[in-house]
Amino acid sequence: MKNLINKAVKTNRLSHSEIVDILQDETCNDYLFKVADYVRKIRVGDAVHLRGLIEFSNICGQNCKYCGIRRDNSLVERYAMTPEDIFETAKRAASLGFKTVVLQSGETQTYSIETLCEIVKKIKTLDIAVTLSIGEKNEDEYRALKEAGADRYLLRIETTSHRIYNELHPDMSLSRRKACIHFLKKIGFETGTGDLIGLPHQTNENIAEDLLFFQEIDADMVGLGPFIPHPQTPLKDDVGGTFEKALKVMALARLLLPSANIPATTAMETLNPKGRIIALQSGANVVMPNVNDTFYRDKYQLYPGKICLNDEAEKCRKCVETKITSIGRSIATTKGFRGEK
Ligand code: SAM
Ligand code: FES
Repeated sequence: MKNLINKAVKTNRLSHSEIVDILQDETCNDYLFKVADYVRKIRVGDAVHLRGLIEFSNICGQNCKYCGIRRDNSLVERYAMTPEDIFETAKRAASLGFKTVVLQSGETQTYSIETLCEIVKKIKTLDIAVTLSIGEKNEDEYRALKEAGADRYLLRIETTSHRIYNELHPDMSLSRRKACIHFLKKIGFETGTGDLIGLPHQTNENIAEDLLFFQEIDADMVGLGPFIPHPQTPLKDDVGGTFEKALKVMALARLLLPSANIPATTAMETLNPKGRIIALQSGANVVMPNVNDTFYRDKYQLYPGKICLNDEAEKCRKCVETKITSIGRSIATTKGFRGEK
């Protein structure tokens, strides 16, 4: 197994069956994590990029079966921050030293495309990068958001298996999601994708296909998190994913896409109190602390056990910084585009 991992370091390539072999073999995990950490250090350096996450609305028209803010969860208290409130939050993030904000929401029609473009334009006056994570839009809308100045777009594929995708995403289609991702890349967004690890009926073969998809589209960012069952969703009784498996898939993503930006995800820290630090030592180079006002945090619960529910943005930022410097890493001072150290 070590030979396979060494080969991937040299060539950045692994076949489908080789990925499955590594995923199946539990004895190679520590070696894989060490090697992914080495590749991270050589290719993207020691600086960790912080992205300030603004969860600006939990209103969603989709009904993904795993997601806590899905349309049919009537127990969620819905909110939509005003454009002014979104801008003020971004301004606070910039003043705390964040060089990027990530605007994330459910798939909502609450904001017209014009309003979204205005928000992006205004935030760009703060001289920070803007990442959007607002779901599927049409081509004209994606183009308008790019022209307004948005730099990056995150749209996880969630799974490349048609069978699993169709089962979990009522009224959505895998081919449309793929087309969105290809289009985002084509019009020049730094494009991020990723998947959920531990979905019902997901096999190592499925995960290997996901990883090869990330490589095929040359993803600029890859976000991987364990699926954590939410008690108010149809998947409430599912077992969900494990921290170790998500970490392993993340380490493999680093070997296949050595220069990509890879976050240590919040969902990982939900399953393991040291999750993000362990991820930073196993291939990750990005952390996305929440910069929302605490008033909104408990209303945006995709899964139970969300971390830092009551921590103000400043406290979150300091806490993350202390953790990062305690392992001998620094905080990046650049906007953190792909390949920028
Ligand atoms: N609506 C946007 C979209 O579709 O890309 C962005 C918001 S969506 C809530 C962000 C991500 O949350 C999804 O891509 C999904 O992977 C993740 N997520 C949703 N439910 C989850 C759960 N139960 N456990 C872990 N992650 C979850
Ligand atoms: Fe819409 Fe999760 S189902 S954000």
